[in-house]
Amino acid sequence: MATRAIEPDFGPLAEARAAAYAMPLADIDMTTPGLFETNTHWPYFERLRDEAPVHYCANGRFGPYWSITRYADIMAIDTDHQRFSSDAHLGGITAKDMDSDFILPMFIAMDPPKHDVQRKAVSPIVSPLNLAKMEVLIRERAQSIFDNLPIGETFDWVDRVSIELTTQMLATLFDFPWEDRRKLTYWSDSATKDETIPGNPTKAEREAIMLECLIYFTGLWNERINKEPGNDLVSMLAHNPATRDMVPMEYLGNLILLIVGGNDTTRNSITGGLLALSENPDQYAKLRANPALIESMVPEIIRWQTPLAHMRRTALEDVEFRGQQIKKGDRVVMWYVSGNRDERAIENPDAFIIDRARPRQHLSFGFGIHRCVGNRLAEMQLRIVWEEILKRFPKIEVMGAPKRVPSAFVKGYESLPVRIPA
Ligand code: HEM
Repeated sequence: MATRAIEPDFGPLAEARAAAYAMPLADIDMTTPGLFETNTHWPYFERLRDEAPVHYCANGRFGPYWSITRYADIMAIDTDHQRFSSDAHLGGITAKDMDSDFILPMFIAMDPPKHDVQRKAVSPIVSPLNLAKMEVLIRERAQSIFDNLPIGETFDWVDRVSIELTTQMLATLFDFPWEDRRKLTYWSDSATKDETIPGNPTKAEREAIMLECLIYFTGLWNERINKEPGNDLVSMLAHNPATRDMVPMEYLGNLILLIVGGNDTTRNSITGGLLALSENPDQYAKLRANPALIESMVPEIIRWQTPLAHMRRTALEDVEFRGQQIKKGDRVVMWYVSGNRDERAIENPDAFIIDRARPRQHLSFGFGIHRCVGNRLAEMQLRIVWEEILKRFPKIEVMGAPKRVPSAFVKGYESLPVRIPA
């Protein structure tokens, strides 16, 4: 297999390529967090797409599972909720099963009809009118973050910009007490961190942190339940007939969904965009010459980053799929990160091109009944970020390698050192 044009023929990626093609296909386990922490998953996915697009891993870290790696196949599974379930009680939506002794019911991990009514309860948050209202607030807050960045010294872009912007957006969505907003980040990070990795919260610690989140939000619910419904997510859940009688764990589950949904994903797109432009100076020059390209660059960033590497389903019946026999109860993992680099569907997929002809053709938001509720909001946030950056900073220098998250689910960054030249 020839080395692709964008890859150097030395270093970790070249070594990963050799390893990916040397090992028996059956041994490939894409749920290995190290492959994402070191950014070396690419050649493994490439091999799976070419040689075993519906691939069975019998000894996965989280148990046996199928990997679906081609764009069209992912689309086929994602839009077939009749046969491929998201139900938390069958394992939920990540390769790792939801803990059966701490099930958090949330509508992303439900099938119809309950999924549909709960989704409807929160959808007004992203109505065009509400988005327009939020845009003003989100822009003001972004401006203040950018105006206060240090000039001429190295700082962490993830903490100062990506996390802060996203946390402020979440606080806006929940009408959350402003001074406590970093709690949202803490709860979100705690909910998704892999407990098997040293330094991350253990299962018991995570559950305690989740209950802390529930207690805090129960206070907000009680304040808002007897008031006129506001335009925030807590009021929407508290007043809608489909959600107002939720048991506490279901309230918590949906809160975690909305916090995590809006947090890691947008945060990592903000960092990923800066990194992509820094690695592709010709694209940055194009953007500076024509800021109107922000419109097509935003979805390209979201494709290029693919902030959620996968979603998982469980087969509700035996299914023959592309010649493979998927059995009832099997885990089926749709690797969006791979589908977004499938040259069968996307031209020149490994290249970051801010003026692609069809930039919205990507899998990062999923498809079908669970397609991301917040997609327009996320795009708006990224558009504002780049509009405000271009107004202020001719250059932002990336000063070192990013530290990536060791996770096969959240594909993102823990830190990225940058400097804005004086
Ligand atoms: C770049 C940013 C984002 C990305 C890449 C992203 C990605 C995704 C993906 C892959 C899904 C599942 C799709 C499927 O299973 O087919 C999803 C669902 C969801 N997302 Fe996002 N998301 C982003 C931003 C947001 C934001 C800002 C919110 C706002 C709160 C949000 C809320 C949700 C919710 C509530 C769901 C569940 C939808 C359902 O089950 O019906 N997301 N998102």
